[in-house]
This record gives sequence, structure tokens and C-alpha cells, in this order.
Amino acid sequence: MYSRIVGTGSYLPVGVLTNADLEKRMETSDAWIRERTGIRRRHIAAAGETTVDMAEHAARAALDAAGCVAADIDLIVVGTCTPDVVLPNPGAMLQGRLGNRGGPAFSVEAACSGFIYALSLADKFIRSGESKRALVVGAETLSRITNPTDRSTAILFGDGAGAVVLAADDKPGVMSTHLRADGGYADLLYCTGGISKGHDPAGDHIVLAGSEVFRHAVTILGRIVDETLAANGLDRSAIDWLVPHQANIRIIQAAARKLNMPMERVIVTVEDHGNTSAASVPLALDVGVRDGRIKRGDLLLLEAFGAGFTWGAALVRY
Ligand code: UT7
Repeated sequence: MYSRIVGTGSYLPVGVLTNADLEKRMETSDAWIRERTGIRRRHIAAAGETTVDMAEHAARAALDAAGCVAADIDLIVVGTCTPDVVLPNPGAMLQGRLGNRGGPAFSVEAACSGFIYALSLADKFIRSGESKRALVVGAETLSRITNPTDRSTAILFGDGAGAVVLAADDKPGVMSTHLRADGGYADLLYCTGGISKGHDPAGDHIVLAGSEVFRHAVTILGRIVDETLAANGLDRSAIDWLVPHQANIRIIQAAARKLNMPMERVIVTVEDHGNTSAASVPLALDVGVRDGRIKRGDLLLLEAFGAGFTWGAALVRY
């Protein structure tokens, strides 16, 4: 038994924050941001618009694309580090919104690797026979934990959501997933506050040691790509599309070089979405599917790296 992606969907909030907007707010420039990150703009949730609101839009689009209704879903897993509230969990909230009852619904917190972690969990539920059809979502409102005047982070992060419907099938589908973490690097990328540590009403925010995280990301992603190919006995030439986490165009280019892939075979959304953490991989996947680049039968390599550190990859026959 395997799981297959039978539908994808995504959602971006209407509000857009451009590099020109940021130039007015802080000591930065459009040229610097584009050259160092590849980002031109990012979408920002409206006041009152939440992670679950965006997850719901993306989930409904994925259900439509899969040709199924919410009642067909027997598992919901949401990857996010920006839940609406501490409880109920965003998976259960999404289940309530969709009017789908009874199956397990939960969230996983693995920062930018959240969607890969969620996909891996849902794949295991389906492979074990416990679930038949799963909704897997990555959704974030990073703008709520970003200091809007900090040039080391405000230029990077955006909001959005992406989703897939996974269905049981006798053919893969998801061929393998690989999840990793090294909590020894917690100090390089973190949020200043939360729940049990306490909450600063003046604004908890993400702190990023940019160039150090960058170096680790390039090395670690190179390694997970090798591990994924080796686990499947495949050469890098077998991959049709790289669908990477969208943190920085230079990190994406390094991963493509490692795979010896031309950038034409890489789905890049960082220019228009910025870094949307757990939402970035399913958002990029949906863009590639809907614009017709990713076709049924293509072999996809999904990868992500984020706070923790956490990282992971999935090899998927679409
Ligand atoms: O999604 C989870 C994983 N996250 C990542 O992987 C993010 C990884 N890191 C990065 O993407 C990059 O490190 C950044 C985009 C965050 C920063 O780029 P960088 O090329 O590593 O720049 P830097 O931090 O080494 O800074 C270079 C210079 C510094 O000035 P000096 O010391 O050379 O005079 C910074 O003060 O650029 C300056 N700088 C800026 N200048 C204009 C830093 N931020 C900005 C800015 N605008 N926004």
C-alpha cells in the first residue's frame, strides 16, 4: 500500500508587501534584497485573517482538484508554527470548518520542515492501512511573529497556505520520506517567546543568524538529497522536478547544482511568496501543477530545512 497525491491547492492572502514598501520602513534596498534572497514581494495576511482561514482555502482547493468532498477525508495533518490559538489544534479546527468528523486531526510543529513532516506522517498512516484519504496542509502567518522593522527577518517572511490530498493506492505515490533534526542548533533560528516560556505583549519575534543558517542549510540539504536518492537506488538524473522550500534563491540554486539540475527544472516561488515556512513546499507544488509544468508520472524531490534545526525530503511520483 502506498499514498498518492491526488489533488493540490493553495492560498495567498490578498495583501502584498513589496521591496519598495520595505525600503520606506528600514535601511534596505530592493537591489540588496533581490540579490541576496531573490525575493521581490511577499503576501501578508489581513488583520484578523488566520492560519486556519488560509488552511481552509488551500484545503478546499485541494479537495476540488482531487474531485472529492470533505466527508471522504479520514485524516487531517497541518504543519504550522503559527497556530491561531494554542488549543484546539489547527488540524481539529480545520476539520470543524470542513464539517468532516471523526478521523484523527492534528498539527505538527517543525517550522519550515512542517509540511514534509506532515506529509511523512500522513504517508505512514496510509501505508499502515489506518487511513485511506488524508488532507495534508502547510499554513503560516509568519507576519504575526516577525518584527516588521527588523531588516534581518522582515524582508524574508510571508504568509500563505498549501495543501494536498493523499489517497491510498497500490502504486507509489510517495516513494520515501526522510525526516531529520538536530536540536543543537536551536539558538540560530528561534522565536523570542511563546506559551510556557511566557509571552511578550510588545511582540515576540523570530531571531535569525542569517549567514550561519544559510551555510548549514546548503550543506544539510545537499546531504538529505543524497540520502533520498540512495534510499531509492536512483541517480540524480531521475528527478524531473525539484520542489524546494523557498527560503533564499541562493540556497535553492545550491540544491539544484548538487542535483545537476538546470533551474528550469526547479519550481521557484520565492520571488513572489518570500519564505512562508511550512506553506512554501505545498504552495510551490500547487503552482507547478496548476501551470502545467508538473505532469502525472513526473518524479519530484521535495525538500525543506528550518528552525530546530529540522529538515527532510520526500521523493514523490506525481
Ligand atoms: O527557512 C528557514 C531557513 N532560513 C534560511 O535558510 C535563511 C538563511 N539565510 C539567508 O537567507 C541569508 O543569510 C540572509 C538573506 C538572511 C542574509 O544574507 P547574507 O548574504 O547572509 O547577508 P549577511 O547577513 O551576511 O549580511 C551582509 C551585509 C551585512 O553588512 P556588513 O556587516 O557586511 O556591513 C548586513 O548588515 O548585509 C547587511 N544586511 C542588509 N543590508 C541591506 C543585512 N540585511 C540587510 C538588508 N538590507 N535587509
